[in-house]
Amino acid sequence: MIYKRNKLTIDHFDVGSIAKKYKTPIYCYSLKKIKKNIQDLKINFRNINPLICYAVKANSNLGILKEIRKNNLGADVVSGGELTKVLKAGIKPKKIVFSGVGKTSEEIEYAIKRNILLINAESKSEILEIEKIAKRKKKIVNVGIRLNPNTDAKTLSQISTGKKENKFGVNQKIFLHLVKTVKKSKNLNLKCLSVHIGSQILSYKPYQSMLRVVNKIIKKSNYNFEYIDLGGGMGIDYDHNKSKLDLKKYSKNIEKFLKTNNCKIIFEPGRSIMGNSAVLITKVIYIKEGFKKNFIILDAAMNDLMRPALYGAKHKIIPIKKINRNSKKSYEFVGPVCESTDTFATVKNYQKLNEKDYLVICDVGAYGMSLASNYNVRPKPLEILIKGSKIQILSKRQKISDLM
Ligand code: LLP
Repeated sequence: MIYKRNKLTIDHFDVGSIAKKYKTPIYCYSLKKIKKNIQDLKINFRNINPLICYAVKANSNLGILKEIRKNNLGADVVSGGELTKVLKAGIKPKKIVFSGVGKTSEEIEYAIKRNILLINAESKSEILEIEKIAKRKKKIVNVGIRLNPNTDAKTLSQISTGKKENKFGVNQKIFLHLVKTVKKSKNLNLKCLSVHIGSQILSYKPYQSMLRVVNKIIKKSNYNFEYIDLGGGMGIDYDHNKSKLDLKKYSKNIEKFLKTNNCKIIFEPGRSIMGNSAVLITKVIYIKEGFKKNFIILDAAMNDLMRPALYGAKHKIIPIKKINRNSKKSYEFVGPVCESTDTFATVKNYQKLNEKDYLVICDVGAYGMSLASNYNVRPKPLEILIKGSKIQILSKRQKISDLM
């Protein structure tokens, strides 16, 4: 994404022309960026040669999943719906792992029927349920057990998953107990230890602590896990000040871990593949003068992009036409939804804006459209993918008639 003669472009396409042609709001993705992010992961983790299972929850558009498949990645799914979609996209069952604290019997049956690589269980009850179904179907099912390592990921509390107060995984005592249970089972094959301590992690240090805990528990369990699934969580640079996770340092720590553990590493990255691959193109509907600041009322709202309202997440908002004149008052960028949390950012010294100007909200490729809703009976936006010199429609803008 660069400015050419003060006009914003994405992979040579002029964003203003896209906005006029397709109407706003639009999720606009760059295939070039997605491929580069995948390549970055492959290069930085070259020495450990992991199986990369894309976390589908970050973005589950079928067109995106097909590109994920073309890049030879597997998938991490958390529902029967996600599993159906990745199979439809052509991702091989032997590259699919199923995570989640509340898989239903139907979902477990479906996963068993499709012979996926691993079902990562998160409780004793779930293990017993998988065993029951496996027995009934006369199958041997490959399972993992998710450990809650009680590690602080030092990220937003709402997206931390590896501390003892979080619902995810099992503690060390239960973990060791479950290893024994599964070892005894005729219908379960224990293949994996999985962990995932949180999302948008910016330092390698929480991962280092997590690996120490994993190392210890493997020793205690005295079991040879074929796979260690380290989850996702690699943080990206939302502030555009180069504050992203140092993948090389994380890799070095894993290399050290592998010296004493002979296993295949699985990753489940979502955000680091999709996050910076898309912008949300939006138009200023009105500018409303406030007491100390002016409200920039956009045609995109919290239903289109939930992260700021849900987590206080920050996304840069940039104009598609640069000018050299600044506004005197601060701007607060808001959507039209009837909620006070429907606000994206408050910014000082922004360039002067006018009604009908176009802007883009940056880094919305992960957990943007996948969290979108129809709140206030607002149709979900159009999604497009820039693919070399072409634009592919990923999903059409919903019509109001679709919402009846
Ligand atoms: N694996 C598991 C088991 C997970 O729970 C998650 C994310 C991932 C992998 C992928 O994590 P990533 O690489 O994308 O950080 N909606 C929130 C993020 C929730 C993440 C939930 N789990 C947000 O918008 O920040």
